[in-house]
Amino acid sequence: KIYPVILAGGSGTRLWPLSREAMPKQLLPLRSQHSMLQETLLRLADWPELMPPLLTCGNEHRFMVAEQLRGISMAPLAILLEPESKNTAPTVAVAAHFLLQHDKDAIMLVLPADHVIGDAQAFHKAVQCAAQAVEQGALATFGIVPSAAETGYGYIRRAKAAFNGIDGCYAVEKFIEKPDKARAETFAADAAYSWNSGMFLFQPARYLAELREYRPAIAESCARAFQASYHDLDFCRLDEAAFASCPAESIDYAVMENTRHAVVVPADIGWSDIGSWSALWQILDGDADGNVLRGDVYTDGVRDSMIRAESRFVAVIGMQDTVVVETKDAVLVVHKDQVQGVKKIVEALKKNS
Ligand code: GDD
Ligand code: MG
Repeated sequence: KIYPVILAGGSGTRLWPLSREAMPKQLLPLRSQHSMLQETLLRLADWPELMPPLLTCGNEHRFMVAEQLRGISMAPLAILLEPESKNTAPTVAVAAHFLLQHDKDAIMLVLPADHVIGDAQAFHKAVQCAAQAVEQGALATFGIVPSAAETGYGYIRRAKAAFNGIDGCYAVEKFIEKPDKARAETFAADAAYSWNSGMFLFQPARYLAELREYRPAIAESCARAFQASYHDLDFCRLDEAAFASCPAESIDYAVMENTRHAVVVPADIGWSDIGSWSALWQILDGDADGNVLRGDVYTDGVRDSMIRAESRFVAVIGMQDTVVVETKDAVLVVHKDQVQGVKKIVEALKKNS
């Protein structure tokens, strides 16, 4: 019995000015009329082994998340509310406690709410493969073939032989979260390495045992935050004081870099985490000039660009490789090769406010 655990927190600053704290990337309809969160759930709709999803998000986003679930007629198992953001290791820990209490045979499929998976069927196969290893106590990751020496990802080195004879599944020899540029280049050029997709499959008790071993302080605060939580409709509210005392850290640093029980299923699933405007441009279908245009837009002599008008008319002439994003209160114009700099705008704005 596999329960999807959807991570719907975080603020996605690299898609500013569309993505904001009040309306982060995962809640935006970036590709279709559905938001990324809704697409994440709809993609799983016909998997027979799936149980209702457990969602985790910041307290301030609870109504939007609940509303988006209603919008696709999906009833969640529960929506776990974090009083503050502590990154992914704690949120996965409280989800593990919830599932352990709900169903002792639960397996959890941890999914970020803001990823694109082009080939849902191939992903389903990869999960089924990983499930065999998970039944034997492994913590499974899904590996993506690196297409560049990205420093924003985790890198996974796999063993040569299949894990316990499971075809397509390998023991993880090394997990390196966000290496520096030089190491990323070495890893990306070596076929034994994959990117970590940020999706995981494991038994809740297994994860909690690893967390207790490597990050006892996180494990302890999360256990208390869950024990003292209370239910209110679909919402499960964590204890504020206990959660506040929890150190903030990602699952990758806290557990995946340390555990000796990780496996990887390399998977060709059309994955993207839409980590930037150019990444979004790549996954949307462009017109004959390679342009992706949204909203009330006029162009002349424009190529390989993305122009998005949210509230006003936008006209662009004679540009290429340009991203233009207009919203009610901010306009972004950036060269496609410089989109990583968008993060800095948000930092600068925060400093000045
Ligand atoms: N509920 C909740 N609460 N969700 C959170 C929180 C939180 O405090 N913090 C982050 N998330 C969600 C984000 O919305 C995102 O969907 C997911 O968890 C991963 O967090 P990111 O902050 O985007 O992580 P990352 O991109 O730096 O790195 C992770 O993903 C990469 C692939 O996209 C790592 O797992 C890397 O190893 C991986 O390569
Ligand atoms: Mg990310």
